[in-house]
Amino acid sequence: MSTFTIDSGTSRATPSPVPGKRMTAPSIRARKADGRTEPPIVMLTAYTMRMAQLLDPHCDMLLVGDSLGQVIYGLPSTIPVTMEMMCAHGAAVVRGSWHALVGVDMPFGSYEGSPEQAFASASRILKETGCAAVKLEGGEAMAETVAFLALRGIPVIGHVGLTPQAVNMLGGYGVRGRQDIEAEKIVADARAIAEAGAFCIVVEGVLEALATQVASEVAVPIIGIGASAECDGQVLVTEDMLGLFERTPRFVKRYDDLASRISEAAAAYAAEVRGRSFPTAEQTYRPK
Ligand code: KIV
Repeated sequence: MSTFTIDSGTSRATPSPVPGKRMTAPSIRARKADGRTEPPIVMLTAYTMRMAQLLDPHCDMLLVGDSLGQVIYGLPSTIPVTMEMMCAHGAAVVRGSWHALVGVDMPFGSYEGSPEQAFASASRILKETGCAAVKLEGGEAMAETVAFLALRGIPVIGHVGLTPQAVNMLGGYGVRGRQDIEAEKIVADARAIAEAGAFCIVVEGVLEALATQVASEVAVPIIGIGASAECDGQVLVTEDMLGLFERTPRFVKRYDDLASRISEAAAAYAAEVRGRSFPTAEQTYRPK
């Protein structure tokens, strides 16, 4: 029994179907041919084993994003997220998936110091989670690090545009690329990361035309979030897409209203407990 697979005898999880062939970094990279990706790449975030199981059949890639700091832990930003959090959740998502490529975010402070620091952190993430790629934020300044990792066998997903780990420098989570000089920098960032060896790049929170330009000018698949339908793929934070939060950014489309459904279920449970109508004979043990 490996740390990276579910023990169907003891886990609560539905056992995974017979493992198929997982998507790989080269297979994702190869989806963009002659400048176009058909069909577009489907990516969602996942932080837990069960969510991974439910999302996996529908996704090419599952991202264990450091957004888990805000979504799971109620932190004010992604800055306080730790390696321990990323490794624990990354391993859970790998256990719950069998088809999608799992990428895990490198937390703030774990890679910016030097390529060697990044290699130590990324190799720990790969060893402890069983994931197939890491994601890091930054453009030209991170190109050397991306190349260092890629040349040493670690597939890297880039992340440019709105980079939440840089919130203290950016001054907030507003759309990037409104000024020409910033737009040009974002294109140069994406190019630099692609040339350094990133196999795909997340472009977040930029004007639609800029995202379209990045997707058409950069050779590797560009995965958009708050970007453009012309990107080579799309990613959303799953809990946003499921309607778990009242407040979400404008670019999120809610495909469900889980917040209301969970509240209704909790209210029904509370009423039955208080009225002693739960549990019933069906849910209690009696002598045989
Ligand atoms: O942390 C995260 O979930 C992300 C996605 C929003 C791309 O980086």
